[in-house]
Amino acid sequence: MTLLELTDVTASYGPVQVLEGVSLSVPEGGAVGILGANGAGKTTTLRAISGVVRTTGRIVFDGQDISGLRPDQVAARGIAHVPEGRGTLPNLTVRENLMVGAYLRKDRRRIPTDVDYLLDLFPNLKERISSNASALSGGEQQMLAVGRAFMAKPRLLVLDEPSLGLAPSTAKNVYEAIRRLRLESDIAMLVVEQNANLAFSIVDTATVLETGRSVLTGTSAELKGRDEIRRAYLGG
Ligand SMILES: Nc1ncnc2c1ncn2[C@@H]1O[C@H](COP(=O)(O)OP(=O)(O)OP(=O)(O)O)[C@@H](O)[C@H]1O
Ligand SMILES: [Mg+2]
Repeated sequence: MTLLELTDVTASYGPVQVLEGVSLSVPEGGAVGILGANGAGKTTTLRAISGVVRTTGRIVFDGQDISGLRPDQVAARGIAHVPEGRGTLPNLTVRENLMVGAYLRKDRRRIPTDVDYLLDLFPNLKERISSNASALSGGEQQMLAVGRAFMAKPRLLVLDEPSLGLAPSTAKNVYEAIRRLRLESDIAMLVVEQNANLAFSIVDTATVLETGRSVLTGTSAELKGRDEIRRAYLGG
């Protein structure tokens, strides 16, 4: 079953249209990547889903058109967005950031179990549980951002370049944890990534964006086999 479907979505910042027609779909429990060069519209596509930019076209989540909803309404439907640049709250501790993520949950009794699970997934955060987010390394902040989104118990996790600005080994650790989260939960994922090798370590299919349009969709294996994808996104 399809969980999220974008059909011919356009989006604008003020008078400037930057998405010209993006279509993609994420199956329930599936993981889908968005690849594309700088400025292709990857972040804007995620913002369109989250209700942060004005859009046209159809954005259907769990059978209902969510285009035009406010960001808090989209979040309440079960979409958690880890923005580019992470967006943790610097003056709150790791634990407080996780609790902010859980703010809208009704099943309060399950929250401690989920915190424990998360600290097992990201042992670095366990050691830093009482530190302010501002004191964390870039990798730890990214883990916290993912953790905070997980604490909302979303049906869809939207991740904008989790590897951005991280050393390769740190990025790999972050991706390994996201991969485990994927295998151990039924949360669907939509992942923007410029490093296609990392993206392909967790996604089943990916859509390539060029200047605000989706131009190609395929399975990870199909895309890896195409010369133009290898040249543009796989470093060879
Ligand atoms: N707040 C904004 N106001 C006006 N134009 C914007 C704004 N944010 C992005 N843009 C423009 O929209 C286009 C798409 O940007 P977007 O951030 O979605 O690309 P991206 O694929 O995420 O790029 P990157 O790989 O650099 O993160 C770019 O031309 C960008 O300059
Ligand atoms: Mg971006």
